[in-house]
Amino acid sequence: MTTDPAGEIAQLEAEATAALEGAADLAALDECERVAFRSKKSRFAEMYQKLGSTAPEERRVLGRLLNELRGRLEALADGRRAELAAAARIERLAADRLDLTEVLPRRLAGHLHLVTQAREALEDVFVGMGYEIAEGPEVETGWRNFEALNIPEDHPARSPLDTFYVDFGEPWSVLLRPHTSPVQIRLLQRGVLPIYAVAPGRTYRKDTPDSTHLPVFHQIEGLVVDRGVTFADLKGTIDTFVRAVFGEGTRTRLRPAYFPFTEPSAEFEMSCVICGGDGCRTCSGVGWIELGGCGMVHPAVFEATGVDPEEWTGFAFGFGIDRIAFMRHGIADLRVMIENDVRFLGQF
Ligand code: DAH
Repeated sequence: MTTDPAGEIAQLEAEATAALEGAADLAALDECERVAFRSKKSRFAEMYQKLGSTAPEERRVLGRLLNELRGRLEALADGRRAELAAAARIERLAADRLDLTEVLPRRLAGHLHLVTQAREALEDVFVGMGYEIAEGPEVETGWRNFEALNIPEDHPARSPLDTFYVDFGEPWSVLLRPHTSPVQIRLLQRGVLPIYAVAPGRTYRKDTPDSTHLPVFHQIEGLVVDRGVTFADLKGTIDTFVRAVFGEGTRTRLRPAYFPFTEPSAEFEMSCVICGGDGCRTCSGVGWIELGGCGMVHPAVFEATGVDPEEWTGFAFGFGIDRIAFMRHGIADLRVMIENDVRFLGQF
């Protein structure tokens, strides 16, 4: 032993303590223990050996000091081992972690509803063509909804089986509008001509929800009134907006139809967005998808609203927005529109 064996023991304690406390992982800790006191060549073993050559009295004192130190170092090493094992376990769990949730946090931010997105896309196209966006109330008078639109008294749409009437004013005089066409009447009544306007909005009919019908749905109405407006302008307008919304390759066609408020009237169709016109399930094999109705504003509508049909001509059109929203995304059943299931809505 050196001249100061107690000092040497204190130094061993200081060094071994620092080494054990600083061990960064379990392997490093094992190595520190080995070097300090576990192996035959450890500094501890060295000191024990040296004890053999000291006086019996001193040997007893130093032996006790060494044994106590060994106890302290072992306890320290055990504590450090537990700490490192816990840290290693946490690290392993973090590395093994699997995120089984489908919804990423950024999805929780929310966004506009599918129908709103489609409505805004349509509005953009018409605003780009110089149209104004008009609005009318969802609760409307029977006069604007039927009479002024030249819809006869005995028309099935006027039946309370089809239309929701509101208990207000004269019986059967106020209703939840079953189409956006009464906004045409509001625009004409305003008396500001010419008119280039579209009116999107909510509409109501007594339909049981199924894959193609909802009791609350959305339409967009178009009305153009100017001098010398022709049927060709109507066809060109429909062609332009359909290509703007569904792509340049989309074609449109008109088929003769009847609506009381237009003459002549037509139904307009577009080539199927899914099959391009070859025929598939979406278009029931015919290659065409019906969008809505259109025609030249009937003189009776001009008369009801005080517009001179000798001076002004116009065209109108109307179609459902919900189906457009669906076709843009290839969805088959309208009912998911109103279920408000975030797993569905979050995808768009
Ligand atoms: N209002 C009709 C409907 O709900 C659609 C319609 C047809 C609107 C012809 C029009 C039109 O403006 O000219 O079925």
